[in-house]
Amino acid sequence: MLLFATSLLISSCEEEMTEKDTGDLTAILYNPTNYTLKAPASYGIPDIPSDNPMTAEGITLGKKLFFDPILSADSTMSCVSCHLQAFSFNDPTKFSTGIRGEQTPRSAMSLINLAFHKRGFFWDGRSPTLEAQALDPVENPQELATTWPDVISKLTKHKEYPSFFRKAFGIKNKSEITKELAAKAIAQYERTLISSNSKLDRILAGADKFTDLELYGYKMYLDEDPDVKDAECGHCHAIPHMTSDQFANNGLDEAPTLNEFKDLGLGKFTGNNIDKGKFKAPTLKNIMLTAPYMHDGRFATIDEVLDHYSSGGKWSPNKDPLIYKLDFTPLERRALKAFLETLTDTSFISDPNLGPQ
Ligand code: HEC
Ligand code: HEC
Repeated sequence: MLLFATSLLISSCEEEMTEKDTGDLTAILYNPTNYTLKAPASYGIPDIPSDNPMTAEGITLGKKLFFDPILSADSTMSCVSCHLQAFSFNDPTKFSTGIRGEQTPRSAMSLINLAFHKRGFFWDGRSPTLEAQALDPVENPQELATTWPDVISKLTKHKEYPSFFRKAFGIKNKSEITKELAAKAIAQYERTLISSNSKLDRILAGADKFTDLELYGYKMYLDEDPDVKDAECGHCHAIPHMTSDQFANNGLDEAPTLNEFKDLGLGKFTGNNIDKGKFKAPTLKNIMLTAPYMHDGRFATIDEVLDHYSSGGKWSPNKDPLIYKLDFTPLERRALKAFLETLTDTSFISDPNLGPQ
């Protein structure tokens, strides 16, 4: 009788142990592996915040989150829905459509060599870091349209995520999963999106050379030769990142005063008059893969972009002085296009390490 009672007591005790998940993760080994970004020395020093060093485990978690529809309200969309690898992590549509069927007010952007961008993210630079940026799409009504508390609750209950967070950040308990840690992991993954194998990269490394037409376009782009027309592109879309990482008004819209731009861009965020109508000069890496063009996707083809620069754009008080009538000849157009083709990096868009695994 006594024996029977004791065994009953033990078994009910065991049941309680397994049913009550304390969320403890300390049995899982936390031993992160440092990760060094691989990029040519000419790319400069990447911007890696001291409180978010890159680790193999952090990148794995970030990649998993980036591709996982768990980040959206109805589990149908993830970051990759609007940032597709085949399009240089951009969206081939003019505007993107979020889970509620609403369109984003601006065109999506390529995610490429972002570790080297130091002056803010989004067309208007409103996010200072990739960590801050990654918090936005989840709660944005035109994008993933959910709330972070909801996402955190799903991640905490998930059968794999808690151990991934443990391995990446050393949390001791499931309850320590936060949006900040999720954003840190996503930022780590985004920093691995390095493209350094375009024809231009290989030429700069001395491993390939331009055709005559490409060389002509390169000289126009960079103002390398007094006998070739200077197209001024290289000032704002500078080698090797093909962006100066600066904001400018490239003359897309006519505006009699600085308050009359349809989209105030940088000025909406800083509140400074002079910044109104200015946008991030985006990278031209893989530009032949990322039509349509500009913050509102107004140009469907690269020819329309060249028409714009050839015409000198439209007047507004802060239109950049580098934007003026260039009147490209047919040869100059072909040369510029041939040069822009050398910015395509097909290994980047097909690299299985950057895709979901
Ligand atoms: C519904 C489509 C959509 C989804 C989903 C989406 N994005 Fe974006 N993304 C955009 C658009 C549109 C912009 C430009 C918005 C702007 O400038 O106002 C953008 C811009 C960005 C930028 C700025 C790049 C730069 O060069 O400044 C980053 C980084 C980014 N997204 C990362 C993400 C991450 C990480 C996720 C998932 C957490 C995500 N996006 C989900 C549409 C989307
Ligand atoms: C004064 C700086 C400046 C100069 C010079 C300049 N650009 Fe731009 N470029 C920008 C800015 C800023 C944008 C984004 C404008 C926007 O969307 O509001 C842009 C956008 C673009 C885009 C669209 C990118 C995308 O992802 O949608 C292309 C293509 C482009 N420029 C090519 C060129 C070429 C080719 C030249 C030379 C003929 C050139 N640019 C000269 C500043 C400049």
